[in-house]
This record gives sequence, C-alpha cells and structure tokens, in this order.
Amino acid sequence: MKVLLINGSRREKGCTYTALDIVAKTLNENGIDTEILFVGKRAANGEIDALVSEAKELLKTADGLVVGSPVYYASPSGEVQMFLDRLFITAGSDLRLKPAAAVVSARRAGTSASFDVLNKYFTITEMPVVSSNYWNMVHGNSPEEVLKDEEGVQIMQLLGRNMAWLLKSIEAGKAAGVEQPALVQKNKTNFIR
Ligand SMILES: Cc1cc2nc3c(=O)[nH]c(=O)nc-3n(C[C@H](O)[C@H](O)[C@H](O)COP(=O)(O)O)c2cc1C
Repeated sequence: MKVLLINGSRREKGCTYTALDIVAKTLNENGIDTEILFVGKRAANGEIDALVSEAKELLKTADGLVVGSPVYYASPSGEVQMFLDRLFITAGSDLRLKPAAAVVSARRAGTSASFDVLNKYFTITEMPVVSSNYWNMVHGNSPEEVLKDEEGVQIMQLLGRNMAWLLKSIEAGKAAGVEQPALVQKNKTNFIR
C-alpha cells in the first residue's frame, strides 16, 4: 500500500516538508510506502497541468493522500489551492473513498482556517478524513523550529500511525468481502434556474 503526500510550499525542504516527512516516516514504519510530490514552486511557475497529470498518474496506485501546505495570510498557499482545484475537479474517481488528511505549517496563526479549507476538498469527494489527537498543524519558520514543536511532531506521528491503521483496515475489509459503496449520481439543485 502507498500514500501520496503533496508538499504545497515553495520551499522544497522547509517546514511543510518537515511535517510531511514525519508522517511519511511513521507510515513507512507501519509498512506503508510513501512518495512526496513537491508542487509549490512548479505551481507558481505555471506548471499546473503537468503537475496535475503527474499527480493523477501517482494516484492510480496510491491508497491514501496527505496534503501539506504552509499558511499564507491565514489560508493555504495559493499554489496548493490552484493545484487542488484542478486535481479534484478532474481526478474524482482516483480520489473517492481513499483516506486523506491535511497538514498545515505556520509561524503563528491561521492554521485552523487553513486546515478547514483543505479538509473540504476531501469531504466533497467521499474521502474518509484521517485524524490525530489535535488539528494537524506544526509551528515554525524553519525545519529546526518545527522539530522543537513537540506537540506538532506527535500530532504528525499519530496521524501517520492512524492512517496506516485505517488503510490496513480497509484492505482487511476488502479481503473479507466488504464492498465499496457505489458512486451515485449527484443531485445538483442549483439555486438559479
Ligand atoms: C507569503 C507568506 C505569508 C505568510 N502568512 C502567515 C500567516 O498568515 N500566519 C503565520 O503564522 N505564518 C505565516 N507565514 C509563515 C509561514 O506560514 C511559516 O513560516 C511556514 O511554516 C512556512 O512553511 P514552509 O517552510 O513549508 O514554506 C507566511 C509566510 C509567507 C511567505
């Protein structure tokens, strides 16, 4: 089993990466493979279509998804939102029913608002949202500071552990004959007729 992790920061090995790396290492320790896709810089350079194609290819063999973003002006980065807008509108069938989690990194504030924005991509796509023992956030301006956020580090470790458990439970359910719920046609009741 494999989890795809998205790094929505412009800094490839910054704070968001540091948080994602803790989640990835914990997943690995629990027998789950991982791959981190760095989208922030390339999204900012106009490579959205190429990035989304790459992510869709990776999602075909991924069983779970973790999206990481720095907090910019109390929101997820514009880069990650641009990427997710395109990915989620075009890759629904490769996302649906796969466990997902959001991770945010900030110096100080705007974390829960950003966390909320990211989780909404999952809950409109029937993705089971994996939780930890707090909202998934770390605090810091550098990887060193993030590693000093002991509570944040533990949140990431538990998130990885819980996601591994859920992935294994779903796998065991499939082996025991539990069928995935079928996709239903959405009832779209637009406000303007
Ligand atoms: C454009 C910009 C806006 C930011 N806005 C916020 C903010 O609203 N709240 C906050 O606590 N930190 C803010 N920060 C700091 C980053 O969220 C923080 O340093 C984060 O951990 C960086 O993650 P990264 O190293 O993965 O890019 C901002 C940073 C930048 C570059």
